[in-house]
Amino acid sequence: MIYMLVPEDLQCLKAIALLGGHREPVWISSQSIGKSLSISPQTASRRLKSLEEALLISRVIRADGQFVTVTENGERELRVEYTDYARIFERHGRYSLQGAVISGLGEGRYYMSLPDYRRQFARHLGFEPYPGTLNLRLSPHSAQVKKRLEGLPWIDIQGFSTDNRTFGAAKALPCRIQDVPCAIVVPGRSHYPDDVIEVISPIGLRERFGLNDRDLVTIEVDYA
Ligand code: CDP
Repeated sequence: MIYMLVPEDLQCLKAIALLGGHREPVWISSQSIGKSLSISPQTASRRLKSLEEALLISRVIRADGQFVTVTENGERELRVEYTDYARIFERHGRYSLQGAVISGLGEGRYYMSLPDYRRQFARHLGFEPYPGTLNLRLSPHSAQVKKRLEGLPWIDIQGFSTDNRTFGAAKALPCRIQDVPCAIVVPGRSHYPDDVIEVISPIGLRERFGLNDRDLVTIEVDYA
C-alpha cells in the first residue's frame, strides 16, 4: 500500500528530529508533539500513525507516551527538504544520484553519432560525446531525487529533420561521475521509465571505470 504524506506529516517528522529522534529514540506524547506543532493531540496521533505506516519513524508505544525514532527513510526525506532549502538560501549545492548500469536498446550509439546532435552537445557542454549513452537504473531514493532536478537549468537540444526523418528535441543537464564531465540526456519523447537515466560523456564510461551491467555508479549534479 502507498501512503500519501501531506506536508504536515513532514513538519511532524521535523519536530521529532529536532527533539533528537534522528539519533536515538526520543520520548514524546501526542500532547507534547501536538503542542509544539500547535495541533490537537488527536491530529498529532494521526500524523505519528501515518509517519509510522510510511516507515519514516518507528515507535514503541506505552500507556502514557511513546519512544519514537526517525528511520533511515525518514532521515532521507528530511535531507531532501534540506537540499531544497539549501537551494533557496545557499544558491549552490549538489544532488547525488546512484544507479545500476543496465544495457539499453542500442539506440544511444546511433543518436549520439548524428552530427546535428553532436554539434549541439559540443557547443553547449564543451565536449564531443562518446557515441552512446550509459543507461542507469536509479535506486528508489535517487528516482525521487531525480524529480528535483527538473527545477535546474537544463540545456535545450533542438530537433532537426533530414530528407526522410525527423529527430526529436532533447534536454541535457551537466553532471559528473567522479572527475569525468557528463550530462544526463532526456529525449523529448522518452520511452524509458522514470527510474532510468541516460548519461553521455566525452569518453567511454564502461571502459574508464571498468563497468559491467549491475555495477553501481554515482552521478553528481552541482548547481549554482
Ligand atoms: O545498448 P545501449 O543502449 O546500452 O548502448 P549505446 O547507447 O548504444 O552505447 C554503447 C555502449 O557504450 C553501451 O554499452 C553503453 O553502456 C556504453 N557507453 C559508455 O561506456 N560510455 C558512454 N559515455 C556512453 C555509452
